[in-house]
Amino acid sequence: MSIRLGDEAPNFTAETTEGTIDFHDWKGDSWAILFSHPKDFTPVCTTELGTVAKLKDEFDARGVKVIGLSVDPVDSHVDWATDIAETQGQAVNFPLIADHDRAVSDLYDLIHPNASDTLTVRSVFVIGPDNKVKLTLTYPASTGRNFDEILRVVDSLQLTARHQVATPADWQQGGEVIIVPAVSDEEAATRYPDGWRADKPYLRWVPQPQG
Ligand code: BEZ
Repeated sequence: MSIRLGDEAPNFTAETTEGTIDFHDWKGDSWAILFSHPKDFTPVCTTELGTVAKLKDEFDARGVKVIGLSVDPVDSHVDWATDIAETQGQAVNFPLIADHDRAVSDLYDLIHPNASDTLTVRSVFVIGPDNKVKLTLTYPASTGRNFDEILRVVDSLQLTARHQVATPADWQQGGEVIIVPAVSDEEAATRYPDGWRADKPYLRWVPQPQG
């Protein structure tokens, strides 16, 4: 079953490197990122897991719990973690799901048979405190993901959940944002008493709201 934005992130129970978890219980009311990788002891995956582990403080600062997944068993994940620490200079500091029966892969549609019958694709699900899916992306096995971009997306998702704004192309934290079309000029005048810059009636810019 494919998962679409706004869907509830399916719950599951799974074995992980940090014990058996019920996903919704583990997540609680935090933000969460579930990301899949094709296989243990593969080069691109090794760099990805090291990169995510190095970004732990950034995920923590945003209140985001991270969990990885592949179809390999826990003992393989644990052995591989030694290589990740050695080659990436950073120990894995988040749980890895051992989806050997592919139950979670099936729930989240992580095996794309026309790409590979056996390997999971590189998918990312950003899940909100309400357990709803806020973002999905899928990369092929040959392309490692850009986790700075995923942090940037989390910043946008969290900002736009708090304020009726949208973030433009290539937006970065602290940059100007766009007043969403659903906010009339009358309402905008109340929300933004210092005014806004309008390139077009539908393209209205304000500084990033605080808080
Ligand atoms: C990798 O992580 O390097 C990889 C995994 C599966 C297929 C190709 C590359």
